[in-house]
Amino acid sequence: MKRKGFIFDLDGVIVDTAKYHFLAWQRLAKQLGIEFSEHENEQLKGVSRVRSLEKILSWGNKTIEADRFSELLDKKNQDYLSYISKMNENEILPDVTRILAHLKANHQPIALGSASKNARTILDMVHLKDQFNAIVDGNDVSKAKPDPEVFLIAAKQLNVDPEACIVFEDSVAGVEAANIANMISIGIGSKDILGHADYIFKDFTEIDNAFIENLINR
Ligand code: BG6
Ligand code: MG
Repeated sequence: MKRKGFIFDLDGVIVDTAKYHFLAWQRLAKQLGIEFSEHENEQLKGVSRVRSLEKILSWGNKTIEADRFSELLDKKNQDYLSYISKMNENEILPDVTRILAHLKANHQPIALGSASKNARTILDMVHLKDQFNAIVDGNDVSKAKPDPEVFLIAAKQLNVDPEACIVFEDSVAGVEAANIANMISIGIGSKDILGHADYIFKDFTEIDNAFIENLINR
Protein backbone atom coordinates (compact mmCIF):
# COMPACT_ATOMS: atom_id res chain seq x y z
CA MET A 1 0.00 0.00 0.00
CA LYS A 2 1.40 3.38 -0.99
CA ARG A 3 1.49 6.21 1.48
CA LYS A 4 0.06 9.53 0.33
CA GLY A 5 -0.80 12.68 2.26
CA PHE A 6 -4.45 13.73 2.28
CA ILE A 7 -4.94 17.38 3.20
CA PHE A 8 -8.38 18.83 3.86
CA ASP A 9 -9.42 22.44 3.97
CA LEU A 10 -11.94 23.07 6.77
CA ASP A 11 -14.52 25.75 5.97
CA GLY A 12 -16.78 24.61 3.13
CA VAL A 13 -15.05 21.23 2.83
CA ILE A 14 -15.36 19.48 6.18
CA VAL A 15 -17.97 21.70 7.77
CA ASP A 16 -20.68 23.94 6.42
CA THR A 17 -19.21 27.14 7.86
CA ALA A 18 -18.50 29.05 4.63
CA LYS A 19 -22.03 30.46 4.82
CA TYR A 20 -21.35 31.92 8.29
CA HIS A 21 -18.12 33.61 7.15
CA PHE A 22 -20.16 35.07 4.28
CA LEU A 23 -22.91 36.37 6.59
CA ALA A 24 -20.40 37.96 8.98
CA TRP A 25 -18.41 39.67 6.20
CA GLN A 26 -21.59 40.83 4.49
CA ARG A 27 -22.78 42.45 7.69
CA LEU A 28 -19.48 44.24 8.15
CA ALA A 29 -19.32 45.40 4.52
CA LYS A 30 -22.85 46.77 4.80
CA GLN A 31 -21.88 48.82 7.84
CA LEU A 32 -19.00 50.26 5.82
CA GLY A 33 -21.29 50.96 2.87
CA ILE A 34 -19.41 48.56 0.61
CA GLU A 35 -21.12 46.35 -1.98
CA PHE A 36 -20.74 42.67 -1.05
CA SER A 37 -22.42 39.76 -2.76
CA GLU A 38 -21.75 36.06 -3.35
CA HIS A 39 -19.50 37.13 -6.22
CA GLU A 40 -17.12 39.11 -3.99
CA ASN A 41 -17.37 36.39 -1.35
CA GLU A 42 -15.88 33.77 -3.71
CA GLN A 43 -12.67 35.81 -3.68
CA LEU A 44 -12.55 35.71 0.13
CA LYS A 45 -12.97 31.96 0.51
CA GLY A 46 -9.78 30.38 1.80
CA VAL A 47 -8.27 33.81 2.41
CA SER A 48 -7.10 34.88 5.89
CA ARG A 49 -9.14 37.22 8.08
CA VAL A 50 -6.69 40.12 7.70
CA ARG A 51 -6.34 39.72 3.93
CA SER A 52 -10.14 39.48 3.58
CA LEU A 53 -10.68 42.82 5.31
CA GLU A 54 -7.96 44.41 3.19
CA LYS A 55 -9.74 43.19 0.07
CA ILE A 56 -13.16 44.44 1.19
CA LEU A 57 -11.72 47.88 2.00
CA SER A 58 -9.97 48.06 -1.36
CA TRP A 59 -13.23 47.17 -3.18
CA GLY A 60 -14.83 50.15 -1.39
CA ASN A 61 -11.77 52.38 -1.97
CA LYS A 62 -11.53 52.91 1.76
CA THR A 63 -8.53 53.33 4.02
CA ILE A 64 -8.80 53.15 7.81
CA GLU A 65 -6.55 53.53 10.86
CA ALA A 66 -4.81 50.46 12.27
CA ASP A 67 -6.88 50.56 15.47
CA ARG A 68 -10.13 50.62 13.56
CA PHE A 69 -8.86 47.80 11.36
CA SER A 70 -8.30 45.51 14.35
CA GLU A 71 -11.63 46.59 15.83
CA LEU A 72 -13.41 45.50 12.65
CA LEU A 73 -11.52 42.18 12.55
CA ASP A 74 -12.59 41.57 16.09
CA LYS A 75 -16.18 42.48 15.35
CA LYS A 76 -16.28 40.13 12.34
CA ASN A 77 -14.91 37.28 14.41
CA GLN A 78 -17.39 37.91 17.25
CA ASP A 79 -20.25 37.76 14.75
CA TYR A 80 -18.83 34.61 13.18
CA LEU A 81 -18.38 32.95 16.59
CA SER A 82 -21.96 33.73 17.52
CA TYR A 83 -23.14 32.03 14.30
CA ILE A 84 -21.18 28.88 15.11
CA SER A 85 -21.76 28.87 18.87
CA LYS A 86 -24.23 25.98 18.74
CA MET A 87 -22.35 24.01 16.15
CA ASN A 88 -22.28 20.21 16.40
CA GLU A 89 -21.73 17.09 14.25
CA ASN A 90 -24.73 18.05 12.10
CA GLU A 91 -22.60 20.69 10.37
CA ILE A 92 -20.19 18.06 9.05
CA LEU A 93 -20.77 17.98 5.30
CA PRO A 94 -22.25 14.82 3.71
CA ASP A 95 -19.93 11.80 3.40
CA VAL A 96 -16.91 13.55 4.94
CA THR A 97 -16.83 10.98 7.74
CA ARG A 98 -17.04 8.11 5.21
CA ILE A 99 -14.04 9.46 3.31
CA LEU A 100 -12.03 10.03 6.51
CA ALA A 101 -12.85 6.51 7.71
CA HIS A 102 -11.87 5.00 4.35
CA LEU A 103 -8.52 6.81 4.41
CA LYS A 104 -7.91 5.63 7.94
CA ALA A 105 -8.79 2.04 7.00
CA ASN A 106 -6.15 2.36 4.25
CA HIS A 107 -3.55 3.73 6.70
CA GLN A 108 -3.26 7.08 4.93
CA PRO A 109 -1.92 10.16 6.75
CA ILE A 110 -4.53 12.92 7.06
CA ALA A 111 -3.97 16.63 7.71
CA LEU A 112 -6.01 19.76 8.06
CA GLY A 113 -4.79 22.74 6.02
CA SER A 114 -6.98 25.72 6.89
CA ALA A 115 -6.61 29.50 6.89
CA SER A 116 -8.87 29.76 9.91
CA LYS A 117 -7.66 30.67 13.38
CA ASN A 118 -10.85 29.03 14.67
CA ALA A 119 -10.05 25.66 13.11
CA ARG A 120 -9.11 23.76 16.27
CA THR A 121 -12.19 25.07 18.11
CA ILE A 122 -14.42 23.94 15.28
CA LEU A 123 -12.85 20.47 15.01
CA ASP A 124 -13.44 20.10 18.75
CA MET A 125 -17.06 21.16 18.42
CA VAL A 126 -17.77 18.59 15.71
CA HIS A 127 -15.63 15.92 17.41
CA LEU A 128 -13.31 15.37 14.47
CA LYS A 129 -9.98 16.46 15.94
CA ASP A 130 -8.78 12.89 16.55
CA GLN A 131 -9.15 12.05 12.86
CA PHE A 132 -6.16 14.22 11.89
CA ASN A 133 -2.50 13.27 12.08
CA ALA A 134 -1.56 16.94 11.65
CA ILE A 135 -3.45 20.20 11.99
CA VAL A 136 -2.12 23.34 10.31
CA ASP A 137 -4.29 26.43 10.56
CA GLY A 138 -4.29 30.22 10.47
CA ASN A 139 -2.23 30.37 13.65
CA ASP A 140 0.65 28.46 12.06
CA VAL A 141 1.19 30.39 8.83
CA SER A 142 2.38 33.84 7.86
CA LYS A 143 1.20 33.81 4.24
CA ALA A 144 -2.42 33.53 3.16
CA LYS A 145 -3.65 31.16 0.42
CA PRO A 146 -3.00 31.22 -2.59
CA ASP A 147 0.46 31.02 -1.05
CA PRO A 148 1.11 27.27 -0.59
CA GLU A 149 2.69 27.67 2.87
CA VAL A 150 -0.17 26.02 4.80
CA PHE A 151 -0.14 22.88 2.60
CA LEU A 152 3.65 22.63 2.53
CA ILE A 153 3.78 22.72 6.33
CA ALA A 154 1.04 20.06 6.45
CA ALA A 155 3.02 17.81 4.06
CA LYS A 156 6.12 18.24 6.19
CA GLN A 157 4.24 17.38 9.37
CA LEU A 158 2.85 14.25 7.70
CA ASN A 159 6.36 13.44 6.51
CA VAL A 160 5.17 13.11 2.91
CA ASP A 161 6.56 14.83 -0.23
CA PRO A 162 4.33 17.61 -1.60
CA GLU A 163 4.04 15.68 -4.91
CA ALA A 164 2.44 12.81 -2.99
CA CYS A 165 -0.21 15.02 -1.42
CA ILE A 166 -3.85 15.41 -2.38
CA VAL A 167 -5.73 18.55 -1.33
CA PHE A 168 -9.51 18.94 -0.97
CA GLU A 169 -10.52 22.58 -1.37
CA ASP A 170 -13.67 24.64 -1.97
CA SER A 171 -11.92 27.94 -2.68
CA VAL A 172 -10.30 29.50 -5.74
CA ALA A 173 -7.32 30.58 -3.62
CA GLY A 174 -6.95 27.13 -2.02
CA VAL A 175 -6.97 25.22 -5.32
CA GLU A 176 -4.38 27.66 -6.62
CA ALA A 177 -2.24 27.10 -3.49
CA ALA A 178 -2.41 23.30 -3.94
CA ASN A 179 -1.44 23.63 -7.61
CA ILE A 180 1.52 25.86 -6.76
CA ALA A 181 2.61 23.30 -4.14
CA ASN A 182 2.62 20.60 -6.87
CA MET A 183 -0.12 18.69 -5.10
CA ILE A 184 -3.18 17.08 -6.68
CA SER A 185 -6.04 19.53 -6.24
CA ILE A 186 -9.58 18.31 -5.78
CA GLY A 187 -12.17 21.06 -5.99
CA ILE A 188 -15.30 20.63 -3.91
CA GLY A 189 -17.95 22.86 -5.44
CA SER A 190 -18.87 24.21 -8.82
CA LYS A 191 -17.00 23.62 -12.09
CA ASP A 192 -17.57 27.26 -13.06
CA ILE A 193 -15.58 28.47 -10.07
CA LEU A 194 -13.00 25.70 -9.51
CA GLY A 195 -12.08 24.97 -13.14
CA HIS A 196 -8.36 25.13 -12.29
CA ALA A 197 -8.58 22.02 -10.02
CA ASP A 198 -7.29 18.62 -11.22
CA TYR A 199 -10.66 17.06 -10.31
CA ILE A 200 -13.94 18.70 -9.36
CA PHE A 201 -16.86 17.22 -7.43
CA LYS A 202 -20.02 18.89 -6.23
CA ASP A 203 -19.50 17.33 -2.80
CA PHE A 204 -18.09 14.18 -1.17
CA THR A 205 -21.18 12.11 -2.01
CA GLU A 206 -19.85 12.13 -5.60
CA ILE A 207 -16.49 10.66 -4.53
CA ASP A 208 -16.55 6.90 -4.22
CA ASN A 209 -14.12 4.72 -2.32
CA ALA A 210 -12.62 3.40 -5.59
CA PHE A 211 -11.61 6.96 -6.56
CA ILE A 212 -9.80 7.30 -3.24
CA GLU A 213 -8.05 3.97 -3.78
CA ASN A 214 -6.92 5.12 -7.23
CA LEU A 215 -5.43 8.24 -5.67
CA ILE A 216 -3.57 6.10 -3.15
CA ASN A 217 -2.18 3.76 -5.81
CA ARG A 218 -1.33 6.23 -8.58
C1 BG6 B 1 -10.99 30.25 5.64
C2 BG6 B 1 -12.34 30.73 5.18
O1 BG6 B 1 -11.04 28.87 5.84
O2 BG6 B 1 -10.62 30.88 6.86
C3 BG6 B 1 -12.38 32.24 5.10
O3 BG6 B 1 -12.61 30.19 3.90
C4 BG6 B 1 -11.96 32.83 6.44
O4 BG6 B 1 -13.69 32.66 4.77
C5 BG6 B 1 -10.57 32.30 6.81
O5 BG6 B 1 -11.91 34.25 6.38
C6 BG6 B 1 -10.07 32.83 8.15
O6 BG6 B 1 -10.90 32.33 9.16
P1 BG6 B 1 -10.94 32.85 10.65
O7 BG6 B 1 -11.81 31.84 11.34
O8 BG6 B 1 -9.55 32.83 11.17
O9 BG6 B 1 -11.50 34.23 10.62
MG1 MG C 1 -12.69 26.56 2.43
